[in-house]
Amino acid sequence: MNRKYRKTIIAGNWKMNLLASQVKLFAESLKTLVPKAKWCETVVCVPYVMIPAALKAFKDSRVAVGAENVNENPKGAYTGEVSTAMLTDIGAKYVIIGHSERRQYYGETDFSVNAKLKAALEAGLSPILCVGESLQQREMDVTNEFITYQVKAALADIPVEKIRRIVIAYEPIWAIGTGKTATSDQAEEVCGEIRALIRKLYGARVARAVSILYGGSMNEKNAAELLSKPDIDGGLIGGASLVPEKFAAIINAANQDGE
Ligand code: PGA
Repeated sequence: MNRKYRKTIIAGNWKMNLLASQVKLFAESLKTLVPKAKWCETVVCVPYVMIPAALKAFKDSRVAVGAENVNENPKGAYTGEVSTAMLTDIGAKYVIIGHSERRQYYGETDFSVNAKLKAALEAGLSPILCVGESLQQREMDVTNEFITYQVKAALADIPVEKIRRIVIAYEPIWAIGTGKTATSDQAEEVCGEIRALIRKLYGARVARAVSILYGGSMNEKNAAELLSKPDIDGGLIGGASLVPEKFAAIINAANQDGE
């Protein structure tokens, strides 16, 4: 973390979990466990239909609510889809874009990820762009090349004045939901590469200010170590974000030394 130059962000990705009644219980217990998050911005990204329940449950707290996906088109005949304007209209602040599960199971491409990012930035949402290599790519030693390609493709034609609200999450696919976390050195190396690439594309100021998160089996036990790295500005957390005690412990790790 580097709190001088950029925001620390702990974001939960609930995926397809929790019903409305559970959202309420989750929020009540998180609020007692984390009475005040001093430093880090806390976010929960939830299924579309749960956004109103989450907004209501977190109303009197500083937890922001986000979506897990969005459509790239402004409006129209796209049955089953949700637009950026709909998200801002109901009060969502963040949106996850290009999660590996969406790329893998729902055919999202670098092209659609780029279009979604543009739409989200245009609408004033803070997109959390996910990138990450497969196990095979890591074993073939092409991680950095692949991440560079993915980030460049996602950011194609996005001008510097639009880029500021973006958050990038490095999520190695082999670490997601597997219990296999990247070591803090592995995670730091790639997050550092991403920052260097942003510097090349957008300059030192932007690179210094962009929050880069790690995701992939981050939990209450490994969070402090990962967050101690200078280029890891927070986490995108799946499984552990469903359990208030675990999520709170990660938030508290991000708040350490936080006077
Ligand atoms: P995980 O998921 O923490 O359960 O590994 C992370 C993610 O998919 O964002």
